[in-house]
Amino acid sequence: MTDNTLPLLRIGFGEDAHALVADRPLVIGGITVPDSPRGAAAHSDGDVLLHALADALLSTLSLGDIGHYFPPSDPQHKDLDSAVILKAVWQMVEERLQRPHLYNVTAVVTLDVPKLGRHREAISSNVAALLGLPAERVGITFKTSEGLATDHVQARATLLLGQA
Ligand code: C5P
Ligand code: MG
Repeated sequence: MTDNTLPLLRIGFGEDAHALVADRPLVIGGITVPDSPRGAAAHSDGDVLLHALADALLSTLSLGDIGHYFPPSDPQHKDLDSAVILKAVWQMVEERLQRPHLYNVTAVVTLDVPKLGRHREAISSNVAALLGLPAERVGITFKTSEGLATDHVQARATLLLGQA
């Protein structure tokens, strides 16, 4: 079943959702969306995209999920910048793999209001910078829930990890 002579190639998948509430900034991919009436209710900054990406990375090496390493119950993680989580997770990958290489990352963010299209470049470039990737290897799609889930923001992320 397992052939250790094959090059390492691992798909990753992660998902996250947070309730939307007034008086919170909406942070997506490390970018604060300026025109959002609501933001994510969360102990950290509630960045669903970075959380989904961090879980996707952890999933490639069967390392569990971010709640295990950054428990929401820990007061130390209040309003935590999720870029810190993503960087810590990448470091965990680097500790386990020689020359880890991300082929690409893709994500879908589901949110009814506001439209995020005009922020796509800022979000993609920031995610790319956090992961040390060229922006053309980061594909981000936005979807509405067609009014079926107006109370939360959700992100799903996949990526392909290998070794250079
Ligand atoms: O969900 P739906 O297919 O109706 O979304 C139509 C388009 O609106 C999407 O393809 C995307 O370009 C854009 N969109 C957006 N920001 C959102 C949701 C959708 O820019 N929050
Ligand atoms: Mg549609």
